Amino acid sequence: MSKVYPVDPAFAAKARISKADYEKLYAQSVDDPEGFWGRVGERLAWTKQPTRIRDVSYDPQNLHIRWYDDGQLNVSANCLDRHLATRGDKTAIIFEGDDPSESRHISYRELHAEVCKFANTLKHLGVSKGDRVAIYMPMIPEAAVAMLACARIGAVHSVVFGGFSPDSLAGRIADSTAKVVVTADEGLRGGKKIPLKANVDAALERPGTNSVETVIVVRRTGSAVPMQSPRDRYYHVLMEGQSADCPAEPVEAEHPLFILYTSGSTGKPKGVLHTSGGYLVYASFTHEMVFDLREDDVYWCTADVGWVTGHSYVVYGPLANGATTVMFDGVPNYPDFGRFWQVVDKHKVSLFYTAPTAIRALMREGEGPVKKWSRASLRLLGSVGEPINPEAWEWYYRVVGDERCPIVDTWWQTETGGILITPLAGAIDTKPGSATLPFFGIKPAVVDATGAVLEGPAEGNLLIAESWPGQMRTVYGDHQRFIDTYFKAYPGNYFTGDGVRRDEDGYYWITGRVDDVINVSGHRIGTAEVESALVAHPKVAEAAVVGCPHEIKGQGIYAYVTLVAGVQGSDELRKELVAWVRKEIGPIATPDYLQWAPGLPKTRSGKIMRRILRKIGENQPDQLGDISTLADPAVVKNLVDERLIR
Ligand code: PRX
Repeated sequence: MSKVYPVDPAFAAKARISKADYEKLYAQSVDDPEGFWGRVGERLAWTKQPTRIRDVSYDPQNLHIRWYDDGQLNVSANCLDRHLATRGDKTAIIFEGDDPSESRHISYRELHAEVCKFANTLKHLGVSKGDRVAIYMPMIPEAAVAMLACARIGAVHSVVFGGFSPDSLAGRIADSTAKVVVTADEGLRGGKKIPLKANVDAALERPGTNSVETVIVVRRTGSAVPMQSPRDRYYHVLMEGQSADCPAEPVEAEHPLFILYTSGSTGKPKGVLHTSGGYLVYASFTHEMVFDLREDDVYWCTADVGWVTGHSYVVYGPLANGATTVMFDGVPNYPDFGRFWQVVDKHKVSLFYTAPTAIRALMREGEGPVKKWSRASLRLLGSVGEPINPEAWEWYYRVVGDERCPIVDTWWQTETGGILITPLAGAIDTKPGSATLPFFGIKPAVVDATGAVLEGPAEGNLLIAESWPGQMRTVYGDHQRFIDTYFKAYPGNYFTGDGVRRDEDGYYWITGRVDDVINVSGHRIGTAEVESALVAHPKVAEAAVVGCPHEIKGQGIYAYVTLVAGVQGSDELRKELVAWVRKEIGPIATPDYLQWAPGLPKTRSGKIMRRILRKIGENQPDQLGDISTLADPAVVKNLVDERLIR
């Protein structure tokens, strides 16, 4: 039996949603989704009120997902303009730099002016409605400004995480045919400089990137970087003399807001497309409810804007709700392991949202760096990105939250736009390690391998039976891939790619990906991407990559590499290949283990049996299952004997 933490009555007394509310509203939301989401949609300022709330078909022949279809709005006006009368002087963004001495408060009025000026800048550069703008930035306010400025004129942003390599950036620029890239001279992380502009220069030398007309460079470190005329322009120079008046362009609810690339089990990363109305309704509504948001909260989500969490819960959700959101450009261990809590005290953060990998890394350093700070302002803690192991949950609760702050373990995905399974702190008892119960309007289903829907306590694959407004609409430029990935295997449902267990109380426990995606520190990496990076190296003949247990990262990357004939494996070559993958994809894809494989376990038809490689990587050589169907069962013995984790 897992431990249960009942709702704290003191928290519940003031919470937005009580247990009775949750049950009542959840029932309404699934019994009458149109009525429910119609009412929720009223939270936004529409320039044309929607009357058609939901128009969805999961039929692969006619797949479409539309919400608030005949409504019109502007996302940036919802995040900025409508707050000016009542919250103009309220802090919208607290920027906290990598260096603890650097921070800045930006009011809604100031942010509005900056966004208008940058929207005018983009227009002046010829960006118009529907054009794509790539954003490759540090966690500085200008990243949010660029996103909102795109939204203001109906341009579609594609934020690329600043840790990605020039090649990864180039692939994303090429796929979205971006017209403009917004970047910074350099980033700063843990005192180290990240050569963002140089990476952009390298990316734009790759084939397929000549859609880019302008590179806008924000001065972050002030280092001299080569500027190519007329392509490269400084942000501060372009902004000079721009008007702070830029009317927000109303767009249709289904007008694309952004593309965000995420890894899948096959091929190159997919451009997940989110649209305007439904996405903002869902991001803002979940943000308010899940974090029990109040007017005077200071909310801090530590995610980077390069990931969906940064989109929905650093920028769009909080700003649509008129909240104060912290943008942190640093790392948890710089200048020391107390940084998070120092920042919490400095800005009186009340709502704190981070990833299990960060918690585990801090946990390893003991309680000292936490206890040094008061953390008295905290009232709720959140977790996202991967399953949180109960030990980390307990530590977060006991040490960080002083047993005072409820924890919301929020399960969702890039594709879902917002949180789908989560506790509501005033309503739902928690169990460490469980994301608990579905949010309003969400109908999870558990199926077995044959697709049969399981009732009651069960373990299987996680599906979502109905649409919700924040759902992705398509894979940019490849609608068929969207259909094939999410709607083919289990007709009539959205397939999440996750495994799940539902317990006797109906609580959901995510067990991890069931496809060939690895979750490294809460970041998704496709095994296929790492494999293709490895085989691009001239000395590699073949590679197979699987996930393995990793104490801090949750999952690590375990690569089996077959070298071309005549090349010998050595420690040096291992280092070279690891560095190669970092260069090809980015540091997040660094293999943790790299084993030489004279042969890989394949079926007679030549398919690599990853199940076997996974078990070897998990140090469970006695659980390989049936290997008799292998073309050459003898290769397994070598791999088991030489395994790197024991
Ligand atoms: O496997 C699930 C895991 O992260 C995947 C989604 O990754 P991404 O699209 O990068 O979005 C991450 C941030 C929302 C899911 O398929 N995941 C995310 N949150 C949780 C989780 N697994 C368990 N518990 C969570 N709270």
